[in-house]
Amino acid sequence: MNGVWVRATAATTAAVLLVTTGGGDASAVPGEDPADYGVIGGFGLGDPYFPHAGNGGYDVQHYDVDLTYSGRKGGEVDAAVTVNARAAQSLSAFSLDFRGPAISSVTVEGRPARHERDGQELMIIPPRMIPAGQTFTAVVRYAGRPGPMPDGPLGTYGWIPTRDGAVVLSQPDGAPTWLPVNDHPSDKATYSFRITVPKGLRAVANGRPGRVVRRGGRTTYEWAEDSPMASYLATVAIGRFRMRRGRAGRIPVITAVDPKFRGSAERVHRTTIKAVRWAEKMFGRYPFATAGAVVDDPQLDYALETQERPVYAGFVPSEEFIVHELAHQWFGNSVSVRNWRDIWLNEGFATYAEWLWRERGERGGRHRGTAEQVFRRYYRMPGDSSVFRPPPGVPGRKDMFGFSVYTRGAMCLHALRRRVGDRAFFAILREWARTHRDGSATTPEFVRLSERISGRDLDGLFRAWLYGKGKPRRW
Ligand code: TRP
Ligand code: ZN
Repeated sequence: MNGVWVRATAATTAAVLLVTTGGGDASAVPGEDPADYGVIGGFGLGDPYFPHAGNGGYDVQHYDVDLTYSGRKGGEVDAAVTVNARAAQSLSAFSLDFRGPAISSVTVEGRPARHERDGQELMIIPPRMIPAGQTFTAVVRYAGRPGPMPDGPLGTYGWIPTRDGAVVLSQPDGAPTWLPVNDHPSDKATYSFRITVPKGLRAVANGRPGRVVRRGGRTTYEWAEDSPMASYLATVAIGRFRMRRGRAGRIPVITAVDPKFRGSAERVHRTTIKAVRWAEKMFGRYPFATAGAVVDDPQLDYALETQERPVYAGFVPSEEFIVHELAHQWFGNSVSVRNWRDIWLNEGFATYAEWLWRERGERGGRHRGTAEQVFRRYYRMPGDSSVFRPPPGVPGRKDMFGFSVYTRGAMCLHALRRRVGDRAFFAILREWARTHRDGSATTPEFVRLSERISGRDLDGLFRAWLYGKGKPRRW
């Protein structure tokens, strides 16, 4: 969406395959054998933690997801996913990331296309080469039962079957469990969803609600995400839900709560509205069309900041949890990471939002406390504790959601605030959200912006808080 391929090119070059003509058969008609043309988009965008995630050679603009959940045979799904993309180079073949059920067909520009699956790579060979710069449409149809990613240190994520349907939480690389996708936050795209479910069930997804069409024993729910979105933030929740609809000023707020937690629907909805109003004062204009929440039943005990509608999986969120996921709408979703190593730009910021919520006395009584007090409490912890290790700017893949990314990341922002003062600090947060809105950015860009706005040299501060071993002592 955002011209990522331009930036990705250098990192991708090594992965681009140059295909030589097979045997130099002079009689081969150009256009019949795609290999004649040369270039296949690379497998992977060169992310330091997920080298195979995403693909080079094209840039996706829009995904249209047409999915039917039959409710039969424990979660059978039938889907057609349309991918609108632009070729960054001439392409004789390109790949998408996909780990879902059996594919029944693939077309490119309406014509059947050859395809091959190898692990999570779905390689598509269109009948004709796609010239550089051209937009093209690929449609992938599949049927079967999607499921989560295989269990690893990052827990359970991807397509998750539930008691009464399914819910999707895909951070960091679970989107291919249900979507053929360019699975990297540096290639954001808009989405439309048409989710058909048996009568009695409901489907909720990202963004703005569209039509609800009842036909026969089925209901189709339309949703649209009109702002560029990273693939890990795409969600659908299918099941029974208690719905709440309201507004935070101009912004429609839509909340869906599983019947198991129905007694808390009103509170989650109200708190979300209150938090949107507060966060707009803190971080600037809310970056998307709608807000809300999904509270569903799988016992994952974590949440994900799925765009416009965070999912809380297996619990009713506290105020601070809601503030955290809401802050991600600015920090993580509207401004996305360009590579996963910079994940502290999401988690450190969302955690610091929780500290600010307390500080501003938004949460009363014994929870009152300034960010300075929270910082000091953590700073007293020993240097070898998980507050400080590993350094949040280079956490390593298995600790990318570790305590230090959240806490030392937030402490880094507090150290910045102490150094530059409140005026410059809040100007930095707002300017970060404003300049990179709908885009993706990196840690060095944040350092430069902070230096520009504060007029100070902040190299030592960020070096100490993001990259130094153990507890930062001097900065
Ligand atoms: N980003 C989520 C949050 O901070 C947490 C999260 C999502 C997560 N997926 C994860 C943590 C996978 C560990 C593993 O709310
Ligand atoms: Zn978070």
